[in-house]
Amino acid sequence: MAEFSLPANSKIKPTGKTHKAAPEAKRVKNFKIYRYDPDSGANPHYDTFQVDLDECGPMVLDALIKMKSEQDSSLTFRRSCREGICGSCSMNIDGKNGLACTTAIEDVKGEIRITPLPHMEVIKDLVPDFTHFYAQYSSIKPWLQTVTPPPAGKERLQSPADREKLDGLYECIMCACCSTACPSYWWNSDKFLGPAILLQAYRWLADSRDEMTGERLDELEDPFRLYRCHTIMNCANVCPKGLNPAKAIAEIKKMELERVL
Ligand code: SF4
Ligand code: SF4
Ligand code: FES
Repeated sequence: MAEFSLPANSKIKPTGKTHKAAPEAKRVKNFKIYRYDPDSGANPHYDTFQVDLDECGPMVLDALIKMKSEQDSSLTFRRSCREGICGSCSMNIDGKNGLACTTAIEDVKGEIRITPLPHMEVIKDLVPDFTHFYAQYSSIKPWLQTVTPPPAGKERLQSPADREKLDGLYECIMCACCSTACPSYWWNSDKFLGPAILLQAYRWLADSRDEMTGERLDELEDPFRLYRCHTIMNCANVCPKGLNPAKAIAEIKKMELERVL
């Protein structure tokens, strides 16, 4: 499902600069990019960048890098791996959250509109503020917690079957595409942990080596932190890694139920 929400602090004006492609360019694609510079004191607006596709790589991130290198060096966005691994380049591309480095330009017809992830405060241009998201991540203690000493001179081993239980969880790259597509998270992100953090919480609940299952479930047992998920499934629809946070949330609810039965 596509979303059309703009960043939390947006008062977008329709006008902005147009950065033209070279006159000899034959295959020109227009990109409408959200611009916001807190130092300017001005409201956000869109700038149009005309990109010559014959001189550009195939992905949306290639176009953004070209715009920054050749047309406006002040254009600000995050990126690192350019292979869908680091999660840095998450943004809203033509109404759908995704990774700029794994979204092909040719898959979006017509002009491409790019905004930051929805419902997050914007630091500058396409860079949202992840402070709260990371604080929520830290709150679920995303590391192995044990009370028993490890076997002498050995790692804590896991059977192949137990290891398999982490498939569909460990691949999460914390891009926040899912959380910022979740209506419950839009309205209650101060208290609801949201799909990304809950998928991570389940990753540790599902780990056979972790010995804090009860404590972790106690922390999540809350009308807002866990139970604000209403199974709308936007999260699974947008995850660029093909993961299903809604399923992980359902598994946590099942674990909560099973311990009181
Ligand atoms: S299934 Fe739950 S977490 Fe996923 S988008 Fe819907 S409400 Fe949000
Ligand atoms: S579950 Fe998917 S969309 Fe959500 S943070 Fe992880 S990789 Fe990103
Ligand atoms: S640059 Fe790393 S996921 Fe896109």
